[in-house]
Amino acid sequence: AKGYFTYDPGFMSTASCESEITYIDGDKGILLHRGYPIDQLAEQCDYLEVCYLLLHGEIPTAPEKAKFQKIVMHHTMVHEQLHEFFQAFRRDSHPMAIMVGVVGALSAFYHDSLDISDERHREVAAHRLISKMPTLAAMAYKYSIGQPFIYPRNDLSYGGNFLHMMFSTPCEPYVVSPTLARAMDKIFILHADHEQNASTSTVRLAGSSGANPFACIASGIAALWGPAHGGANEAVLTMLEEIGDESNIDDFIKRAKDKDDPFRLMGFGHRVYKNYDPRATVMKQACDEVLAELGIADDPLLKIAARLEQIALEDPYFVERKLYPNVDFYSGIIFKAMGIPTEMFTVLFAVGRTPGWIAHWKEMVSGPYRIGRPRQLYTGKVARNLKK
Ligand code: SDX
Repeated sequence: AKGYFTYDPGFMSTASCESEITYIDGDKGILLHRGYPIDQLAEQCDYLEVCYLLLHGEIPTAPEKAKFQKIVMHHTMVHEQLHEFFQAFRRDSHPMAIMVGVVGALSAFYHDSLDISDERHREVAAHRLISKMPTLAAMAYKYSIGQPFIYPRNDLSYGGNFLHMMFSTPCEPYVVSPTLARAMDKIFILHADHEQNASTSTVRLAGSSGANPFACIASGIAALWGPAHGGANEAVLTMLEEIGDESNIDDFIKRAKDKDDPFRLMGFGHRVYKNYDPRATVMKQACDEVLAELGIADDPLLKIAARLEQIALEDPYFVERKLYPNVDFYSGIIFKAMGIPTEMFTVLFAVGRTPGWIAHWKEMVSGPYRIGRPRQLYTGKVARNLKK
């Protein structure tokens, strides 16, 4: 049955399931969403069209898109009582800690009225999550800097609305530049889905028990937070700032190769891609566009990143292990240039990944499915008797 986890001892740590949503060829560096290459989607679609594609399998027609956009944009506000929920967090809480909490709390606001065995209700859950994730993300940021929450606007694009909620204040609206709004939209597209990665597999496993979609997405956010996964974009920026200058790069390369040193080059390597991550190529183009628009094309961090990339593509250690830049390598530089604080980077990854998570959840629960139950290889004590 779709979504049923099978355990393949040959691969020790993987479970696999069927899906029609995303295809990856790691050796060739190919990523397709419902058959369309990621670079074509990033160049020719906006984020809501890609959300629709992931959920429904086809690019929306103009009327379908208009209807979907109206539904999504007219549900971007969150229940006023959720505003109170934020007050329980310390101001210096990591925004991912807040997101795990408030997205899980959506269960208490929207789940009771939803019957996930009903396709229409599953659709509503998918729409509500896509609508509200950017609002909650911007609220987590505003809460951390002590500014009032900014309400969404229905006349802006999805990416533009997010930047408005992040950077407007009651005293002064943030003027959304079309280039930055488009770049935000493109970045969300590049994060939208990625097959059975750790966080998506977490969402599927949680969903396989019949848990409600809001709790399942909260579990995906928790899994994404780790530095080996979605937390890598934040770790890339921290690494680039720690390197500080091109003259220090060789020391860090040495450390990355040292088995006794836990340091790894953040933003490099991938469990599946043993070729260039196709998203990194598009992200690099977006990075160049944003930095040019902001007049910081010679950002020192970008120079360090470009030098690291060149080394990784030439140094035998990285070449033998097929360690290429991944989706997280350039995203942090763009976010920093846009004025987004480092601790918000993984939150933006979670916002972008929401349609992928919810499409996988929907695909699984829309047909016959069984609870996921990965088996273990027991390596503990053999049975023995207790004699006190
Ligand atoms: C994401 O699954 C997905 O699709 C995830 C994702 C998505 O969209 O959902 O694509 C998003 O999570 C991208 C990955 C972001 N993480 C990072 O950039 C963190 C740095 N990367 C590494 O931690 C690592 O490359 C992983 C976690 C990404 C992959 O780990 P694997 O598949 O377990 O690879 P590995 O650790 O077995 O590495 C193989 C070899 C090892 O050397 P040897 O033991 O063979 O001598 O490569 C080395 C590793 O030591 N290696 C690195 C390295 N990554 C792997 N050495 C230095 N720097 C690195 N970054």
